[in-house]
Amino acid sequence: TMPILEQCYNLMDFEHVARRVMKKTAWAYYSSGADDEITMRENHSAFHKIWFRPQILVDVENVDTSTTMLGTKTSMPFYVTATALGKLGHHEGEVILTRGAHKHNVIQMIPTLASCSFDEIIDAAQDGQVQWLQLYVNKDREVTKRIVQHAEKRGCKGLFITVDAPQLGRREKDMRTKFQDVGSNVQSSGGNDVDRSQGAARAISSFIDPSLSWKDIPWFQSITKMPIILKGVQRVEDVIKAVEAGVQGVVLSNHGGRQLDTAPSGVEILAEVMPALRTRGMQDKIEVFIDGGIRRASDIVKALCLGATGVGIGRPFLYAMSAYGLPGVDRAMQLLKDEMEMNMRLIGASKVSDLNPTMVDARNIHQH
Ligand code: FNR
Repeated sequence: TMPILEQCYNLMDFEHVARRVMKKTAWAYYSSGADDEITMRENHSAFHKIWFRPQILVDVENVDTSTTMLGTKTSMPFYVTATALGKLGHHEGEVILTRGAHKHNVIQMIPTLASCSFDEIIDAAQDGQVQWLQLYVNKDREVTKRIVQHAEKRGCKGLFITVDAPQLGRREKDMRTKFQDVGSNVQSSGGNDVDRSQGAARAISSFIDPSLSWKDIPWFQSITKMPIILKGVQRVEDVIKAVEAGVQGVVLSNHGGRQLDTAPSGVEILAEVMPALRTRGMQDKIEVFIDGGIRRASDIVKALCLGATGVGIGRPFLYAMSAYGLPGVDRAMQLLKDEMEMNMRLIGASKVSDLNPTMVDARNIHQH
């Protein structure tokens, strides 16, 4: 029998339920990683190499998990990252994530390849809730410009340009289940000429521009006032370039292990990036986010100790939504909040700004 929602005690539990209840094609699309899925597994296990150094006898009667990301106050240092094709998991799609994010006052990143239309997801937001846009850059720059300027007009507070996907990775689990229903599952992509024989990912991605380069960044800065964040940065040198290019943030990410297999995890890159930024006096010039494999609030706390501004979480919310709809997303976020408060209390931090590098031992992070 299927576990009831109250029997889900952590984010991994939602994955187990989702695997059992989801359609095969949907499960394959959400759960797959690139090639041998080594990076996908590493994203999660990298956090196990970091150990806490808890501080005792600190007043933690009241713990405040709130923080600020790109100028927005938010109740917790995580956001719902962009994941395409929400209707594969739930017939209402991404608006379920919008409602969950509203309930917990967390930020949602809207994917270019959402199942709901962009405006539906914007219209589902309430009470000035903050949303960001994830952008796949279309070969047709007029299309890109229209998407970006429409998002800004509709109140989006950040433009996350995905830079780790000049070509979609090879996700064989996804390729094996032929994707039948592209047209009704994606609304805002660029093209109609989709090849349905290679899985969902390949089918929807042909419009993405592989010629995108650093030279294009000033153009984005000229068409929008939204903060620009590069999503999918994977080494220190590129973070330095991002600072020099004048963008407001980077997401250290390998796309949930769905792109280049054996690319490093976000948290491993973070451990290298923050000292390098500090050495150059650049640590206040850019906000550094990570995503990939975050399943426990302890993972979030570790990332913040190492200097991240916040973290993105993808699959767990998709699984919670697919298995239980809005109540599932609500519970997943509540579990994270409870875990977050407990972890901060036990590590000796009463607020997010108390978290610092002395509270973790990350010396083994580069060992594989
Ligand atoms: C993604 N991700 C993603 N990223 C992006 O920039 N544009 C996109 O359309 C998508 N689509 C997408 C679909 C699915 C099903 C997944 C699982 C992921 C990557 C996503 O934003 C993020 O980098 C990872 O999901 C983070 O890893 P976890 O939390 O899923 O382990």
